[in-house]
Amino acid sequence: MTMIDAAQIHSLFQTHYGQAPSLIVRAPGRVNLIGEHTDYNDGFVLPAAIDRATFIAAAPRTDRRVRVLAADLNETDEFAIDHIERSGMRPWSNYIRGMVRALIGAGHLINGADMVVASSVPRGAGLSSSAALEVATGYMFQLFHNLNILGEELALMAQATENQFVGVNCGIMDQFIVTLGKANHALLIDCRDLSYQEVPVPANAAIIICDSHIERTLAGSAYNQRRAECEQAVELLKPFIPGIKALRDVSSAQLASHGHVLAPVVLQRARHVVSENERVIASVAALAADNVAEFGRLMNASHASLRDDYAVSIPEMDALVAAAQRVNGCYGSRLTGAGFGGCTVSLVDNNAVERFRHEVAAAYLASTGRSATIYVTHASDGVSRIRPDSA
Ligand code: GLA
Repeated sequence: MTMIDAAQIHSLFQTHYGQAPSLIVRAPGRVNLIGEHTDYNDGFVLPAAIDRATFIAAAPRTDRRVRVLAADLNETDEFAIDHIERSGMRPWSNYIRGMVRALIGAGHLINGADMVVASSVPRGAGLSSSAALEVATGYMFQLFHNLNILGEELALMAQATENQFVGVNCGIMDQFIVTLGKANHALLIDCRDLSYQEVPVPANAAIIICDSHIERTLAGSAYNQRRAECEQAVELLKPFIPGIKALRDVSSAQLASHGHVLAPVVLQRARHVVSENERVIASVAALAADNVAEFGRLMNASHASLRDDYAVSIPEMDALVAAAQRVNGCYGSRLTGAGFGGCTVSLVDNNAVERFRHEVAAAYLASTGRSATIYVTHASDGVSRIRPDSA
């Protein structure tokens, strides 16, 4: 994976369009430290934006056309902004098309643009390359036309694009952190009211992402099924816990008292969500108390819950997590994102990073016959405009 930077995308634009771009925007991918499958249950999440990002170099047009070069794929697309339909031939373009449509739908006055897109966020690995492209696109138009759009609104527009235009029924976490991420911090996001708090990432520990290189094939259908099971749990619990609107409103104690009204599988799903919300809150308290070991223990518990109760892990991810957890100096490890493949996230003492790389790669290869890509990441800022010389 090439690490694209601002200077490179500037020159790609220059070569393709024969002029310099007017601006360059950068939108990061994300990794979720804890709080998985809680966002669409009105719950809590603790993601960080990462140092891999999608870049757009662009110049405004005076007409109503958008032209795009997807440099990584060496494909182009062109469409008129007044008649935007989904593209079957260029699936990557739907994130751009959907955002333009959302902006116009929200009443913003925009014109066309010439764009070059390139990214160092691996596609299909569960690190939110799609949210990065949506948010970067929206931000680019926002800058061109001085649109008054708050970060939260931009994130909601990107989520709506994903839900209504692309057809993926995701929650708000990815688009929110890609928009509002903060360097060296994770964000504790309350996905009910979208209030959030910056949580410093421990300075003595590295965030390490391990890509299993398993495509997340089941992710779409199983994701929707889990959402439906959560909604069913809420309906069945309502008579016993008045006023609840989502699993966010249910405590472990309440679930222990009333969970017998749920089918066993639905009870398992609810137990994951309810306990995961409690783990997120406990994690933030642990970090505030500088107790990284406790935070790591909660990450491990999160993985066990995702594997056993929410049933979104697969043997290869379990192998990757188990290998990480065995490394001396690894505080905790878990699958991150929707599951069924993609990446794990581990928190590792700064002194143990090289040992971690070596031991996890070897153990994953030995148990699955596959190579993992392992990289240390840093919590970075959300979407921003950058200068060509500031790679
Ligand atoms: C995907 C979705 C998010 C969230 C996670 C699971 O990344 O896009 O909204 O639901 O799965 O935590």
